[in-house]
Amino acid sequence: MSDLAAVAGMAPRDFPFADLSLAGRRMGFEAQGITLEHLDDAGFAAVEEMLLTHSVIVFRNQALSPEAQVRFSERFGPLEVSLYRQFTNESFPPLLVISNVKKDGKPIGAAHVGKRWHTDFSFMELCGYATILYGIEVPPVGADTAFADMYAAYDALDDATKREIDGMQVLHSYRLRYKDGGLSAAQLDRCPDVVHPLVRTHPKTGRKALFLGCVESAFAQGMSLEDGNAFMRRMIAFATQDRFVYSHKWRVGDVLVWDNAAVMHTATPFDEAKYNRTLHRTSTIGGRPF
Ligand SMILES: [Fe+2]
Repeated sequence: MSDLAAVAGMAPRDFPFADLSLAGRRMGFEAQGITLEHLDDAGFAAVEEMLLTHSVIVFRNQALSPEAQVRFSERFGPLEVSLYRQFTNESFPPLLVISNVKKDGKPIGAAHVGKRWHTDFSFMELCGYATILYGIEVPPVGADTAFADMYAAYDALDDATKREIDGMQVLHSYRLRYKDGGLSAAQLDRCPDVVHPLVRTHPKTGRKALFLGCVESAFAQGMSLEDGNAFMRRMIAFATQDRFVYSHKWRVGDVLVWDNAAVMHTATPFDEAKYNRTLHRTSTIGGRPF
């Protein structure tokens, strides 16, 4: 089964919005009464507390210029610039346009990113922390963004498996992923092979989480490349079972923020011939996973 078919066949639950207090940890939270464009320091501290507690938060009815999105995003830490430099905002390069829209026959954004389970910038030495995704135009059907809870997936492992994977290292390699083309030499130069632990400790919450990367670029160490990749595919299949997954149905004006040290995510399909989808993405970098 292809990755996309696997995603299309799954039935993730809808995001369980705001029916618990902030104190009750569960992935996914709808923040209310917050305008991201005008956030003081106390407001930002509250937003980051929500993020660290719930790992994925949504803000409805926002209106963010590219500059306002970049200013909000950089409060989480240094911004990363996408490898798809041709689709980044000219004035604000950390802002990536994701879109299937064409103007004068030319795509206005990256159309095919994130269509499999992954963690943003897992293939870099310093990996992604918060990703911010703003919905400008969204299809009425499909195109959900699904999230899998890597704390819960780790916690669900039996003790023998936890012992087996404790200390295991994983090679994240865009060189191997794109060995048949797809990225230029200059793009690949930005992300040399890197090794990260399979189980990471979140630097801010102290909780253990699985850190798996993407099926196409992750290879468990201590075995052949083929076996190491097969092992990671099994881990990702385990960690993205429905019981760990919530799926966000987009509305125009939604801003999603997620914690890449605690969740994996994937785009889900939609009828690209029928509907337009345009999102603005910014990503911040955390530290080296440990
Ligand atoms: Fe992503």
